[in-house]
Formats: sequence, structure tokens, C-alpha cells
Amino acid sequence: MRGERSDASATRAAVEQRARRMRRVIPALFVLGLLAACSGQQSALDPQGPYAQQTATLAWVLFTGGTLIFALVAALAACAIFAPRQWRAALGGKALIVGGGIVFPGVVLTALLVYTFVATGATGRAPSAAPLQIEVIGEMWWWRVHYPGADGMPHLVTANELRIPVGRPVELALKTADVIHSFWLPSLGGKLYMIPGRTNVLRLSADKAGVFRGQCAEFCGAQHARMALYVVAMPPAEFAAWLEAQALAAQEPRTAEHAGGKTLFLAHCAACHTVRGTAAAGTLGPDLTHVGSRVSLAAGILPNNVGTLAGWIASSQHLKPGNRMPSFDAFSGEELVALARYMESLQ
Ligand code: CUA
Repeated sequence: MRGERSDASATRAAVEQRARRMRRVIPALFVLGLLAACSGQQSALDPQGPYAQQTATLAWVLFTGGTLIFALVAALAACAIFAPRQWRAALGGKALIVGGGIVFPGVVLTALLVYTFVATGATGRAPSAAPLQIEVIGEMWWWRVHYPGADGMPHLVTANELRIPVGRPVELALKTADVIHSFWLPSLGGKLYMIPGRTNVLRLSADKAGVFRGQCAEFCGAQHARMALYVVAMPPAEFAAWLEAQALAAQEPRTAEHAGGKTLFLAHCAACHTVRGTAAAGTLGPDLTHVGSRVSLAAGILPNNVGTLAGWIASSQHLKPGNRMPSFDAFSGEELVALARYMESLQ
């Protein structure tokens, strides 16, 4: 009996010790998590362009104001509980109730509202320099990207990746092919809905070259969380060269293996995908004319290389269940590698 009791108290002591350790660890993990969101490829707190900067400044002004007011109210509440009697009597006076309860919030909220209108109005105004126009169409669960070919530029269709020149304002026409999505690019611009039957315009620009991540921000079905994209900001000359290269038809196979891959591609993939310069002209899925040159695969969820291409072809339903591409698991190993190498060669 005594043995059982000492076992139980030892167990209880161990549980309490573990709980104490968790109480110390959890706040540390929470703070680490917060810090992790402060910088990197996808952070509203690390703006990399003027439009994102306006949003970040607005957020900091609201956060700082809110924190100061919270501290003031907490101090007054502490006074009302713990201060000497005559202080508490003063706090209960009509002047503070009218001044602090009606006039102060009225003035502060009006000022913040006006400031918010001015700050967000600046992001909505058309830029002074001619913007680069790009159309982005949300689909379940990827992004179709059109460069419409205005001002002498080639018309291009690509997917899941935007390339933009550093320093030039960009105007994104946001549409959807199916349900409501939301285009969110925290480091460069804001967030805007893609609504069926509408075109919303989001403006952004990048101050320096880099790769930035964006994410669909509205629940749009099972794979909403795997609907990301990358934006590559390039020096203007590099961007012009990229645009010119993207306008070319696909690379012809350079090896026998690539040729075998191309034959398989035309037989199995051409109904849904386009590769310009070949018979493949499907439009259900992403245009793959230059798929090998992209940063990521499957809307930002995989790095782009021969291994991930082969894995995606063979098990896309395992990697992103419910997406519109079936898993092609009947290819032999050699066929899969040939197909993946051909696609990687499409630079
Ligand atoms: Cu598209 Cu969420």
C-alpha cells in the first residue's frame, strides 16, 4: 500500500516537473516563432518596396498607439484599485469620465481613421511612372500568369512565378478562374481578393533584387495552404533578357533521352499543358514552355529539379491531394527520368 502511494507521488512529481519545464519552454518557443516572422522571403514586417513600406508604417503606427493606450488604461485601472482614497476619488470624477471615456477616444479614433485613409489612399493611387502590367489568375490551386504584351513587350503565359524589374511600379490585374482566392505578397505589396467576375488591381514594386514568397490568403479548398508563388525581382536589363528568352518557343531536345521524354510528354501531358513550339497546346494546367527555369514546382511547394519533377509526375495526388493532375504512376523508372530530364531542359 505504502509502495503504491510513493509510486504515485513520484509520478506526480515527475508530471509536475515536466509541466514546470513546459511552462518555461512554451513562452520561449512563442517568442522564437514571432521573431521568425520578422524577416525573410515572406514578411509584412520586412518591407522591400514602397507599397509594402506604407503598409508596414501604418501597422506600426496603429500597434504603437494601441500599446500606449492599453498601458494608460492599465495604469488607471491599477490606480482605481490600489491608489490612496483621494486619488481614487479624483478618478471617479465626472471630468475624467467625460474626457477619458468620450472625448479622448473620439479624437484618437478620428485621427487614426483619417491617417489610415491617407496612408492606404497612397497605395491605391496610380503610380507616376508607366507601370508594368501583369495579369494573375487564381486557379485551384495555382496561379496562371499573363504578361499581356503591352508597350512592345512580348505576350507571355507562365505560372506560379512573377518576374519583375527592380524599381519599376507593377500593376497586377487579379482575377480568378473558379472560387475566391486572395493574392498576398507581404514583402512587396499588400493583399487583395480574387473574386469571380471581377478584376482587382494591386500595385507593388521592389526596391532591390531578390526572391520573395507570396501565398493565397483566402481558404479556397483542400490545398489552399499549398497555393504559394515566388516573385523574382531582377535588375531591369536582366528582366528584359528574361522576357525575351521566355517569349521564345521551347528548347528542342538535345539528347536522345530528352527526345524520348518529349515523345512521352506529347503522348501523356499535351492534353492539359502547353509547350510552345510543340504540338502540346492544352490549357487546363500550367504552361510548361520554360518550366525548367522556374524557382519552384506545383505552386511553390517543391524546389524545381529532376527529382522533384519525377516525384510530382508519379505522385502528384500524394503530394497535393485533390489537385487536377492525376498521379502518373504507370511510367517505368527510365521513362519517368527521361520525362523529368526533358522538362528540366525546358529552360
Ligand atoms: Cu487559393 Cu486559398
